[in-house]
Amino acid sequence: MEEKLRILEEEFKADLSQSKTQEELDALKVKYLGRKSKLNDLFSLIPALSREEKSIFGKNLNILKNKISQKLDQSSNSEERQEELIDLTYPAKPMANGYQHILSHVTEQICSVFEGLGFSVVEGGEIEDEWHNFSALNIPAEHPSRDVFDTFYMELKEKDKGKYLLRSHTSPTQIRVMSSLTPPVAVISPGRVYRPDEVDATHSFMFNQVEGFAVDEDINFSHLKGALLHFARSFFASSVNLRFRPHFFPFTEPSAEVDVSCVICGGKKNNSVNQRCSVCKGKGWVEVLGCGMIHPNVLEACGINSRKYKGFAFGMGIERLTMLKYGINDIRLFYDNDQRFLKQFQV
Ligand code: PHE
Repeated sequence: MEEKLRILEEEFKADLSQSKTQEELDALKVKYLGRKSKLNDLFSLIPALSREEKSIFGKNLNILKNKISQKLDQSSNSEERQEELIDLTYPAKPMANGYQHILSHVTEQICSVFEGLGFSVVEGGEIEDEWHNFSALNIPAEHPSRDVFDTFYMELKEKDKGKYLLRSHTSPTQIRVMSSLTPPVAVISPGRVYRPDEVDATHSFMFNQVEGFAVDEDINFSHLKGALLHFARSFFASSVNLRFRPHFFPFTEPSAEVDVSCVICGGKKNNSVNQRCSVCKGKGWVEVLGCGMIHPNVLEACGINSRKYKGFAFGMGIERLTMLKYGINDIRLFYDNDQRFLKQFQV
């Protein structure tokens, strides 16, 4: 009996020294420890043995079994074995290249259209004080239009400038730029803004805007219309049109909201329920931005002589423009970081 064990052990050692790859080691495991292995055959001899033999042989058999399984484990973990497994001729894994988020890409697209018209890009800060976010923009403390803009305030206060808050629009950049530069100025300013809005398919408490404004001695409303039409046709398609609707903003006078002819249905008005375009709801137009001539009070708050200088300003939501251009129906997709969504816009 002991002889049988010894022979089996010798045989195993010889086999092990011949085995190089993990595959060969796996085969050895089956051969020596598997259900049909020689070791198992030896176990089946036990019942026929005398009592004393049973205990001695059983014990030695178990010792051998453990030894074999230990040796096999050691071999598959050994560093040499790992090295043998590295095939230096194997083609390298492709590197996953990073790419821009679709919102960053669109932001750059927008800025570059305006840069082509001579605008400079200036980024403002996300933390503003009440003076820059409201008062200097002709929104006095008790004005009702502060309500939709009232965002996240900090305890910190600046003397004369009020509390700090997360800016609710990019318009404070107008104030910062106009207070520090003398006209002529033409600036485009993208960035994040914050609102007390419930999150749903079209709203978020944080989103991106781009502000644009130009100030010079003889700027008028047709400059604004020309710049925006040029932008819409470069960004969407040369066939789109714009519609200016009178509106109210405290910081511009006159003010307008601007609609673009629906880029999904081509601006076809269709009011039969079944064929109604889901984006423009059959109206043929989609609102995309707010704009107007900079209010004289705003120019004066920045130390600019409003008799000498005029300016136009506009502000638009980057998510909204992106959703329209690419047919995206839920704003939350931009922030979920789901690669399956983002990869579609890899450029
Ligand atoms: N700040 C306005 C908003 O966030 C947009 C706007 C900017 C309107 C500039 C007119 C001029 O809604």
